[in-house]
This record gives sequence, C-alpha cells and structure tokens, in this order.
Amino acid sequence: MQITLEIFRYNPEAGRTKPAYDIFTVEAEPTDRVLDLLEYIKDYQDGTLSFRRSCAHGVCGSDAMRINGANSLACKVLVKDVGSNHIKVEPLLGLPIVKDLVVDMEPFFESYRSVLPYMINDEVPADGKERLQSQEERERFDDTTKCILCAACTTSCPSFWADERYVGPAAIVNGHRFVFDSRDQGAQERLNVLADEMGVWRCRTAFNCTVACPREIHVTRAIAEVKQAITTGKVD
Ligand code: SF4
Ligand code: F3S
Ligand code: FES
Repeated sequence: MQITLEIFRYNPEAGRTKPAYDIFTVEAEPTDRVLDLLEYIKDYQDGTLSFRRSCAHGVCGSDAMRINGANSLACKVLVKDVGSNHIKVEPLLGLPIVKDLVVDMEPFFESYRSVLPYMINDEVPADGKERLQSQEERERFDDTTKCILCAACTTSCPSFWADERYVGPAAIVNGHRFVFDSRDQGAQERLNVLADEMGVWRCRTAFNCTVACPREIHVTRAIAEVKQAITTGKVD
C-alpha cells in the first residue's frame, strides 16, 4: 500500500524558521510501524529529517510524537491502526521545538526532578540488609512504576498547554510511585511540592493524559490518589 506522510519541519539553523509541512510518499506494509516509515524517509528520501528514537520497542519513551493528532510512540503505531493512507506527524505540543519532530525535553525533566523521584530513606534496614515489603504493599504503586517518561501525557494536557509551569501528569505519576511506597520516608516532602500552586490542583480531570499513555497507566486515578493524600495526610 502507498502511504502519504505529511511531516512537520522546522530547522532555524538551516533557514527553515517558519514551521511547514513536507509531503513524502512511501510503500508500506499494514504491519509496518510509523517509526519504520520515518526511518525509511530518513535513509532514502531526506537525511535531514530529525526525530528521536532508540529502542524501537516501546521501552525507552524517546519517540513520542503526534500521529494524526494523537500523542503516540511512533514505534508502537502500526500503519493499519492509523486508519488512513494519509499520516500527519507533528512534534509534541507545549514544549519548545528544537528541529522537526525533536522537542526540548528539559522543562519536562525539570518538573520530573522537582518531585524527588527516588527512594528517600536513610535508616538502616531492620535486618541490616534489605527493606522488606509485602506483595500488597508492592502492589499499591505497581501501576506508576511502568512510566517510561515519554511525555505523551503531559503534552496532551490542556492545563499544561495553558500554563507550562504546571508540574504535569508525568511528574505526578512519578511522585505517586514513591509517595505510596511503604519503604520510602519522603512522602510529605513530595506532597508539599505537589500541593504547590503549580501542582496537582491544576489538574481539571480532563483525562487526556490517561488516553495518551502508551503504558496504559491509570494516570488520572494516580493524580486523584495524590490529591487525596494531600487532603487527608494519609499515604496508605
Ligand atoms: Fe509516558 Fe505514561 Fe509516563 Fe506519561 S505516565 S510519561 S504517558 S509512560
Ligand atoms: Fe491534564 Fe490529565 Fe488532569 S489531561 S487536567 S493532568 S486528568
Ligand atoms: Fe523507544 Fe519508541 S523508540 S519507545
């Protein structure tokens, strides 16, 4: 089958300062991934096309982009699933564009770092070796351990589009991962950050984040649980 790709282009270093779209036509199998088509274009039609990718298997989170308007990982979207022979590919919304489909992820990671996304516990474990946890305690935050930091959620959120200082769903998910971990002692510190003016209360329960998440994390539910922890002071 023949697929037409309409790809967003921008490259201030080469004089392409006005965002525009280039059209490419490629032969594809229904089971090809959109990432395969981008790789083909880069290899055989236009070597200047820029996009991020690494694992090509939905693990690294580096190739999130807008595919026919929906935030997705290009390596996880099959041509047959797009439902059209015309595929529009654009960079994520709300982050500065560096070149073509590459956005500056630094503001996203700044928010991520603000929630202290690491274990905080300086106490020596009871047996001197390891911090034990029951299956139920581990299950409590299992869903939010699946995040691959692709930014598909945050860049689909209308509250983030309205004010990029909003910490965003990805940072809240990663705060949740540690707030509800029975081995961690930094919950209150994180909740203080997330209770801030740019924290969880900016969420208007739009659910775009949950729809966009390629790991099928219940993002909006995680945000609701963090809101509840802030209001009740309970993290169990
Ligand atoms: Fe990506 Fe989902 Fe993590 Fe958001 S929560 S950064 S969409 S994996
Ligand atoms: Fe945004 Fe998700 Fe809340 S899309 S408004 S963070 S539910
Ligand atoms: Fe790694 Fe798509 S290239 S998630």
